[in-house]
Amino acid sequence: ANILVLHGPNLNLLGEREPGIYGHARLDDINARLAARAGEAGHRLEAFQSNAEHALVDRVQAARNDGTAFVLVNPAAFTHTSVALRDALAAAALPFIEVHLSNPHAREPFRHTSYFTDLAVGLVSGFGADSYAYALEAAIARL
Ligand code: DQA
Repeated sequence: ANILVLHGPNLNLLGEREPGIYGHARLDDINARLAARAGEAGHRLEAFQSNAEHALVDRVQAARNDGTAFVLVNPAAFTHTSVALRDALAAAALPFIEVHLSNPHAREPFRHTSYFTDLAVGLVSGFGADSYAYALEAAIARL
């Protein structure tokens, strides 16, 4: 099946950005690791990162008709702000897992709300780059 991984704003800076919070792994390395694991399990994985809300909304809309079966999404700062991206995922009606490198609940109060969690199959957060790997295992188990 086709698995889509969406990364929100500033995640292109992974490895350089606040490494004490987000770790040293770079986005390309995370994506490569995920694609390899998906392939091993007989699936295809595509990753898409954007700093622009509209680009993420457009990618989710495209996923309605491109054979995507499961979505992993780290909405990054849009977690706490984006009704538009939430609505796009609701419209696509695709199962998704919300992923965060950090544990937003252990951080500033403005990170304690998410526009996504109540629609998600589940939530994996707090394990750095491994959060994506654990979420992928959960997706594979459901495909
Ligand atoms: C994040 C947590 C968000 O609060 C933050 O805005 C991010 C990354 C994470 O993966 O830990 O950009 O989604």
